[in-house]
Amino acid sequence: MVLRFIALSLAFAFAATAQAADKPTSTAAPKWDTVKGQQIAAQVCAACHNPDGNSAVATNPKLAGQHADYLYKQLKNFKADGGKPAERNSPVMGGMVAALSDQDMRNVAAWYAAQTQKNGQAQAKAIEATQKLYRAGDAARGLPACAACHGPAGAGIPVQYPRIGGQFSEYTDAQLKAFRSGERANDPNRMMRAIAAKMSDAEIKAVSDYVAGLR
Ligand code: HEC
Ligand code: HEC
Repeated sequence: MVLRFIALSLAFAFAATAQAADKPTSTAAPKWDTVKGQQIAAQVCAACHNPDGNSAVATNPKLAGQHADYLYKQLKNFKADGGKPAERNSPVMGGMVAALSDQDMRNVAAWYAAQTQKNGQAQAKAIEATQKLYRAGDAARGLPACAACHGPAGAGIPVQYPRIGGQFSEYTDAQLKAFRSGERANDPNRMMRAIAAKMSDAEIKAVSDYVAGLR
């Protein structure tokens, strides 16, 4: 993270030096601008994700407290670029990102990442088998532990592994089924598709309820 930031700052510094002649006021800009991000959130996204990313409706995922890099990647994935279809197909989100620039996407990602997730759902009573699946996986079936990548409390591990704790159960259920069917195929190295392929409907439902109660 820090290294990447330094690398980016350096790249920017070089670019700024190169352009110094026609852009004398150019200084190193931060990678994200949460103030601009907040404006986009309020104007474009709030209707479905709320101004602070704590969506009210289960089909619209909570964005508050999600890692900025993950949010940014999803926004890019929703965008059909250069004549190619979007890596993550969503008619709704495809329309939302169409008019956003790369910097807009970084800014709004940073805004939502800086908000605090509110957990509306009651902690579901975890069935022991579900908790075991989440924490330890099932070696017999070659199913890795969710916790290995998403953390024991579902907080995720930046930059690649998203927060899943506290998310709406319905949304998580839908994403796992989308990975299983291949309808969602934007996971690096097929990580999630390979896992979801081994899960039954009942397991997906149980683990989604479990994850919704994590905090
Ligand atoms: C009309 C409602 C609507 C609006 C407005 C909207 N979204 Fe969404 N958003 C959705 C839905 C529905 C999904 C779930 C898509 C899916 O099922 O894959 C979603 C998914 C997302 C995701 C993926 C989250 C995850 O956990 O993977 C991100 C990021 C996101 N939206 C950001 C935004 C941003 C930023 C804006 C404003 C520029 C915005 N959305 C505007 C409905 C909306
Ligand atoms: C080997 C690492 C790994 C393991 C193990 C893993 N995941 Fe994931 N998961 C990922 C990655 C990487 C992504 C992000 C894909 C992307 O970039 O869109 C992801 C995304 C997800 C998402 C989508 C989140 C969103 O906001 O849309 C859900 C839900 C999810 N994982 C649930 C699970 C569950 C439940 C388990 C255990 C059964 C699990 N994962 C195990 C790596 C993993």
